Amino acid sequence: MKDIEDGIFPYGYQGEIADRLLQHKFGIKPQYIIDNKWAKFNPDIISLEELKKIDNENLIIFVSSDRNDIYDVIREEINRYITKGIVVDLFPMVNEDNDRKVEAVRLLANHFTSIKLPGSVAEAGVREGAFARYINKYFSSKKLYLFDTFEGFYNEQVKSNMILEEKVFEVNMDYGEYYHELGVGGILPMPNPENIIIKKGFFPDTAVDIEDTFCFVHLDMDIYQSTMDGLHFFWSKMVEQGVIMLDDYHNDHCPGVKKAVDEFCAANGVGVCFLPEGRGTAVLIKNR
Ligand SMILES: C[S@@+](CC[C@H](N)C(=O)[O-])C[C@H]1O[C@@H](n2cnc3c(N)ncnc32)[C@H](O)[C@@H]1O
Repeated sequence: MKDIEDGIFPYGYQGEIADRLLQHKFGIKPQYIIDNKWAKFNPDIISLEELKKIDNENLIIFVSSDRNDIYDVIREEINRYITKGIVVDLFPMVNEDNDRKVEAVRLLANHFTSIKLPGSVAEAGVREGAFARYINKYFSSKKLYLFDTFEGFYNEQVKSNMILEEKVFEVNMDYGEYYHELGVGGILPMPNPENIIIKKGFFPDTAVDIEDTFCFVHLDMDIYQSTMDGLHFFWSKMVEQGVIMLDDYHNDHCPGVKKAVDEFCAANGVGVCFLPEGRGTAVLIKNR
């Protein structure tokens, strides 16, 4: 009998969450990341077509999507490519209501509304806008600035911004062509599009004309220099009680994030706290 082989389909925002949950909660490290779109740009990700080569009755494909309504379609799609094995739905684990980080955004948004906290909201590091959708949904009446190149990185830009981050470099490079296909118009549909302000290009160059203040900022730029620039730019613009959330603080693939946050906090006398949500998110609160 063959050993178990397992994979996650599709990838992206929910797939990453599923991957971490499987590892943290069950000690399962999926061997295959399956996603037709990302397979074109990232050699570590395979397409559905490649599943056909796996001849194993102990194959398990975990489906990760926060859209319960499309699970049957996804299952049918996978079944066209596997001849043996089973498909397992992760919807009960991976959905908006189970996402503690989204819950934190929802609670903060409600709290800020109830105390009438002024200031806009922002995300720097947007990709397709998977997390930005939640910010836009819950901070429903706030202006949301979205900063990204929306074209991935170019070699030289990343190299000069890197601190021991070859892995991040590879990942971001692989997005390059994908972004060209996607374009800014390819950002996921937003619940309150009238509040979105796209700042396309290299941050912080794209922020020079911004005079606004902020009550909530999500920094998700993976690398040291972008994170440090984000902290410097937004900190002085945060209203009192405003919150900066930093993705990937506890993430071995993005050591520059922790380094930037630790240096910034030490230099500015800021305390750091963490969200128990499996993605290593750190939180900074602005005081007087
Ligand atoms: C991990 S992805 C963001 C994921 C996103 N928050 C989500 O919900 O899926 C990191 C993004 O940061 C962007 N980025 C990093 N540094 C940047 C900079 N200095 N200027 C513009 N974009 C940057 C990259 O282009 C990439 O899209």
